[in-house]
Amino acid sequence: MGETIAPHGGVLIDRVVVGEEKKEWIQRAEKLPKVEVTGVTLSDLECIATGIFSPLTGFLNEEDYLSVRDTMRLTDGTVWSLPITLPLPDEVQKTVKPGDTVALVHQGVVYAVMEVESVYRVDQKKEAREVFRTEDEQHPGVARLYRSPAVYAGGPIRLLRRPDHGLFAQYFHDPRAVRAAFQERGWQRVVGFQTRNPVHRAHEYIQKAALETVDGLFLNPLVGETKSDDTPADVRIRSYEVILKEYYPKDRVYFAAFPAAMRYAGPREAIFHAIARKNFGCTHFIVGRDHAGVGDYYGTYDAQKIFREFRPEELGITPLFFEHSFYCKRCGGMASYKTCPHDKEHHVILSGTKVRQMLKEGIMPPPEFSRPEVVQVLIEGMQEKERVTQ
Ligand code: ADX
Repeated sequence: MGETIAPHGGVLIDRVVVGEEKKEWIQRAEKLPKVEVTGVTLSDLECIATGIFSPLTGFLNEEDYLSVRDTMRLTDGTVWSLPITLPLPDEVQKTVKPGDTVALVHQGVVYAVMEVESVYRVDQKKEAREVFRTEDEQHPGVARLYRSPAVYAGGPIRLLRRPDHGLFAQYFHDPRAVRAAFQERGWQRVVGFQTRNPVHRAHEYIQKAALETVDGLFLNPLVGETKSDDTPADVRIRSYEVILKEYYPKDRVYFAAFPAAMRYAGPREAIFHAIARKNFGCTHFIVGRDHAGVGDYYGTYDAQKIFREFRPEELGITPLFFEHSFYCKRCGGMASYKTCPHDKEHHVILSGTKVRQMLKEGIMPPPEFSRPEVVQVLIEGMQEKERVTQ
């Protein structure tokens, strides 16, 4: 059986505390200063602790933060494109100091402890410019940044409790388990796929085109926090269940949730998404049109171009680039601007806004755009959401 690809930085990080040690830490944590963290931080904690964000062992300290922000590398030179940081709530900014151990709490529950290495004030506009390529507060990632406190704390963490994933807990698989499953199946070449959307025909097309040349597909939709008009994760999960059942070969696909939050940082997030999938054991990663983009902030292929800034061996995982894909009525099948010679009038292309509008009105987008089984789940999901908000 062949070796799987090495994790980023060489070692798969494990900061999940178990057994006796866990009991002791939970007791100790009761007496530690408490820092209330957001849902995004909670998902970061889970990703750090389980090795999805290897080689990070905690939230970035000041030196690594500045290095990542300005050079897309940790201070030791390892490629790392997004600042994974812990913004400190105003009320604890003056009390938490380097050398402290603090308990990280979400909605009254202690999830982790952190050894504070540094507490530092950041220039949010500079972070926005560097990471998101815009200072515009309309950008959802920038808006979240501006809403957060501008003082961060950095240091290694220990996860004491796993967040509760309810009905979908069955889809949260740690990198260690995923790597073992790839080995067991004898998959040497595995392509990872990131999405924050239901799987439409274009997604299916590029996934299957990639799968033609590798051993397995790792379908790994992001289920952490997204902006409010993205399809909610629970509805998407139901849509993945139906499309996998009806249209994908079971023995060639591994489905698992990606717990991270969406940043909408386009190019920088594409690098980050690729590295996280390498930690799961993928050797290849799909980057299509406007990966992790939003609005018009990034060029259609900027998230592909950024890969040129790194040497292949620094990333380890190989990106597979795809042009904008669609169904072409003249071709009578899925195609892309690279493979289809026909005019746009023959192409079935719908914007996300248009599709959401159709679903809201109970109108089925055409089967050339999305599988009817998927559409059915989405319409039901939309209607449920409407009922809840009415
Ligand atoms: S996101 O996480 O990258 O924001 P999205 O669901 O929009 O999620 O896209 C998932 C992946 O499919 C990305 O790599 C994206 O570039 C690619 N993609 C989405 N739609 C298309 C399309 N029509 N043609 C080619 N690639 C696409």
